[in-house]
Amino acid sequence: MKVAVITERRPHERRVAASPDAIKHMVGLGLETVVESGAGGEANFTDEMYRAAGATLVPDAASALADADIVLKVQRPIVGSDGVGSPDELHLMKRGAALIGLLAPLQNPADVQAYASAGIAAFAMELVPRITRAQTMDVLSSQANLAGYKAAIDAASEFGRALPMMMTAAGTIKAARVLVMGAGVAGLQAIATARRLGAIVSATDVRAAAKEQVESLGATFITVDEEAARSAETAGGYAREMGEDYQRRQREKVIEALRRTDIVICTALIPGRRAPTLLTEAMVAAMAPGSVIMDLAAEAGGNVEGTKPGETVTTANGVKIVGNINTPSRVPVDASALYSRNLQAFLALIVKEGQLRIDTADEIVKASLLTLDGAVVNPALAPVPPASSSALPPVAPPPAAEIPS
Ligand code: NAI
Repeated sequence: MKVAVITERRPHERRVAASPDAIKHMVGLGLETVVESGAGGEANFTDEMYRAAGATLVPDAASALADADIVLKVQRPIVGSDGVGSPDELHLMKRGAALIGLLAPLQNPADVQAYASAGIAAFAMELVPRITRAQTMDVLSSQANLAGYKAAIDAASEFGRALPMMMTAAGTIKAARVLVMGAGVAGLQAIATARRLGAIVSATDVRAAAKEQVESLGATFITVDEEAARSAETAGGYAREMGEDYQRRQREKVIEALRRTDIVICTALIPGRRAPTLLTEAMVAAMAPGSVIMDLAAEAGGNVEGTKPGETVTTANGVKIVGNINTPSRVPVDASALYSRNLQAFLALIVKEGQLRIDTADEIVKASLLTLDGAVVNPALAPVPPASSSALPPVAPPPAAEIPS
């Protein structure tokens, strides 16, 4: 069984799907590992480190993928020319191979169809259910945690003032005030990091459970509506989309807090939907010059009116809106190391006695498997017949197609 790891070629991606430690682990399980030369470069993993861990280094993606049984990726593979000027990675893979990565299937249904047509068994790590047994495979948490940390650090470096209170002979500097909107995994780590940097932190979230978590980190929770918060959480622990009335009251509360806020870190997401708009243009216009807004939801449509994905915009009144893309990739070493561990745990589920064994009855496999034996098999995607002709109907766009890819 051969496992391949290649360089990530999509823009803004600095991570790699397997660290040298992960390679060592796979070699220990009896798997043969092939790594494209330079694949770990952006994460400071040298070819020499991979070689020492037991991998075979090859010069390009084609040689790594040619007869790989399992392909480990961070981002979805390039299909066709895909507009990024790189080789078609999908069609370098052999039929029957397993592909594991952050495949964003709901936003890219045509790619899912292409995996089926190419005879690939594709697994989307973001669809792994957040059950106790799958905690070690939870890529959303491992990456969001680092994104929250990095957003607080980036905010501090964009801000023209210091964060902690300082009493000096030359005068006293006031502590900065940070507001975190959305207190899930990323938001909670942003709170903890901003607190460590000395800021005074408050936070808001639609889910009632967030209040206790925010307060346990020493931040103040801004409650919008206790009654609504009790029903704002789905059985899976995610937020529901809130009604217009709730959103209006949330804005009123937030406007009050914004008067005293220097930095806002937005992390609010609703799975499968466009990110909710939490800060309107008028709210941003009312903030003091020099304030900084980090919009971690930029790629899902943004929490802030005026966010430009991948850019930092300075508004007419001097507020910076930072729309960084792929924040986990801004901490590439740790993000790659944790992501590799998640994949390592996932591999243990589908590799038994050195062979690929896809147990479709397993709840984690069922939720994350997109395509098998030429067909789209995931219940979250529209089923399509086996891909043997070019006259196949397209995959119907799921509701999540609202998220810009
Ligand atoms: P997420 O990335 O989908 O969303 C981020 C946060 O935004 C969430 O806390 C959500 O409630 C909030 N949000 C959504 N709409 C909002 C709005 N209009 N205003 C303010 N906030 C809004 O969520 P994430 O970080 O993936 O976590 C969701 C939940 O899952 C959390 O409670 C987390 O603790 C839980 N979880 C459970 C795990 C488990 O193993 N059981 C593992 C990881 C997370």
